[in-house]
Amino acid sequence: MSNPSILILPGDGIGPEVMAEVRKVIDWFGAKRDLAFDVSEDLVGGAAYDKHGVPLADETMAKAQEVDAVLLGAVGGPKYDVLDFSVKPERGLLRLRKEMDLFANLRPAQCFDALADFSSLKKDIVAGLDIMIVRELTSGIYFGEPRGIFEEGNERVGINTQRYTESEIERAARAAFELAMKRNKKLCSMEKANVMESGILWREVVTRVGQDYPEVELSHMYADNGAMQLVRAPKQFDVIVTDNLFGDILSDCAAMLTGSLGMLPSASLGAPMANGRPKAMYEPVHGSAPDIAGQGKANPIACILSFAMALRYSFDQGDEATRLETAIEKVLADGVRTADLMGPDDGTPVSTSEMGDKIIEALDASL
Ligand code: NAI
Ligand code: MG
Repeated sequence: MSNPSILILPGDGIGPEVMAEVRKVIDWFGAKRDLAFDVSEDLVGGAAYDKHGVPLADETMAKAQEVDAVLLGAVGGPKYDVLDFSVKPERGLLRLRKEMDLFANLRPAQCFDALADFSSLKKDIVAGLDIMIVRELTSGIYFGEPRGIFEEGNERVGINTQRYTESEIERAARAAFELAMKRNKKLCSMEKANVMESGILWREVVTRVGQDYPEVELSHMYADNGAMQLVRAPKQFDVIVTDNLFGDILSDCAAMLTGSLGMLPSASLGAPMANGRPKAMYEPVHGSAPDIAGQGKANPIACILSFAMALRYSFDQGDEATRLETAIEKVLADGVRTADLMGPDDGTPVSTSEMGDKIIEALDASL
């Protein structure tokens, strides 16, 4: 059987810098854990525009459709701000998401003990936190028709429509139950079934899908209460599934429970492929950080944690994902920090590549 395949798209700014550290980690798993991947690399964003005149070449798009997982760095930068909207770097990313039909966006909120002081919440509320928000990404109020600003009598009216079909809810729910099975078999679905018909349908469909996953403990919560509970006692949750709008807000809220942008990974999943793996793209939440690009200051952990998500959710290597996360935890506990994880008086930060090297050392020590 051939090795699982990964397409790496480093992109722009700090994208290539953090991706170089992910490459070290991928190579380590090949050399030390007998987990070899067929890795190819290509251009996206401004880097692709510079070479091809488009932010994503057709050949790259075709390759992304074939591989088991895409790993993306970040796209964009001031140099490309003058470009026409149709060829802006972000369009490369949007094309990937759209053509791969990545309808489930996974945003973890994971707090490494060593960084618990970084949170705006009390340490004991966030220490050890590890939850996952699944946000439906391709439907709901950001896409529903009718939409627009219309004349009505002698004033204007702004309209957006929350619209979900049963099949759209079902596939998002199924993705969330599959994740719950790979985690702690606990899922909370959030909507506003008390005031929205789309919420009533959402609750009905999620409950029905749940019958296929009897091992998963399913609960329902109104999304406004969910926001309160996330801040009050976030550790009560494991996987949360919700719609596009509530997910946008709740995932940003949950992510910030744990601190720095340089620590936040994400995944976007689509339908299962012939081999049973979902279409998948993994990427850090942060952008290309032009203010620190080229200086070796970027924190590579968000991108490395994105690869850990790939290990767990695309390659069924949950134990190896935990090994990698534990190595990162150890490095942080040892006080190793990139500049974004320290205050002005906290000593000397390590560089991007030094952080990568420390994580490799911790991986070696885990054997
Ligand atoms: P950004 O995420 O690139 O940077 C925001 C701030 O966080 C900056 O001060 C940056 O230095 C810092 N930062 C971000 N990632 C970091 C890391 N790994 N380590 C240390 N510090 C880090 O967002 P910004 O400045 O709004 O956007 C910059 C460019 O990136 C723009 O062209 C924007 O369109 C693009 N962008 C791309 C995204 C993507 O590719 N998914 C997402 C967000 C923005
Ligand atoms: Mg947002």
